[in-house]
Amino acid sequence: MKEQEDDINKEDNDEDYLESSIITDDLEKNTIDRRRIKKENFSKKRAAVESVFDERTVFQLNKLIINGPLDKIEGLISAGKEANVYLAYDRKGNEVAVKIYKIDRNTSKWMMKYIIGDRRFKKIPKNVAKLIFLWASKEYKNLKRAYKVGLNVPKPIHIKNNILIMQYIGSGKTPAPILKDVKNPKNIDELFQDVMVFIKKLYQKANLVHGDLSEFNILYHNDKAIFIDISQAVDVQHPKAEDFLVRDIQNIINYFNKLGITFTELEKFYYEVINKEV
Ligand SMILES: Nc1ncnc2c1ncn2[C@@H]1O[C@H](COP(=O)(O)OP(=O)(O)O)[C@@H](O)[C@H]1O
Ligand SMILES: [Mg+2]
Repeated sequence: MKEQEDDINKEDNDEDYLESSIITDDLEKNTIDRRRIKKENFSKKRAAVESVFDERTVFQLNKLIINGPLDKIEGLISAGKEANVYLAYDRKGNEVAVKIYKIDRNTSKWMMKYIIGDRRFKKIPKNVAKLIFLWASKEYKNLKRAYKVGLNVPKPIHIKNNILIMQYIGSGKTPAPILKDVKNPKNIDELFQDVMVFIKKLYQKANLVHGDLSEFNILYHNDKAIFIDISQAVDVQHPKAEDFLVRDIQNIINYFNKLGITFTELEKFYYEVINKEV
């Protein structure tokens, strides 16, 4: 865990960090090599790039296993549109979750909405792979911000290109379910309070708005809510931050309404979060 702690505590200048994580020598070399073999290999390359395990990702994963924090990949937890999540083990035999973003052009287009306008990202790469790497590092940084202020998010462990390693939430090989799939969550009032406090602290202490908060992105573990999928979260200064905040609050109210909780003070709560007088 020592290496992991160092990773988290390391003070990083946002932009330096991004630049160095995106532009790797390997990548540059790969691009030149790829150009050379473009003709013969075109369809093969295309098929590979469309899956999560394109050549570069396999190469990086191997590096993470040979001389990085990972020991082995155990199996798939979730296959999504933008990313797959795997259960893996670190060198000490602890479970970790590995989220691998797909290097995909369509995904990168959708991502722009959340990147443009975020003051942390001044240079936006045109290259699809680099944009996805930026996105993955955004999730890592958002997790780090939230984790540092004590919020219930998986602890970020490591980021390399499109591969994010974080604390695994689950018991043994069974990952925690998303809230949506839990039939009768316990202490609903308390759970609702916890989610509302998360929204507020994320805004006020971590200066972030989740942007995709709902029962689909909350894990239910030991009767508590753990908040995940924070890649699209934007800085509070983002021009759309307040729209995203209203949407997040509304999603949560809708979900808890179905469980029998009545909450009619969306507006009041919204102003409380952004800390302005009504
Ligand atoms: N740290 C984690 N521990 C255990 N399971 C996780 C973890 N992070 C994600 N998952 C699982 O993977 C699924 C997809 O992860 P998520 O970050 O929501 O990506 P996306 O929705 O973009 O595919 C989640 O619904 C959850 O089941
Ligand atoms: Mg999700």
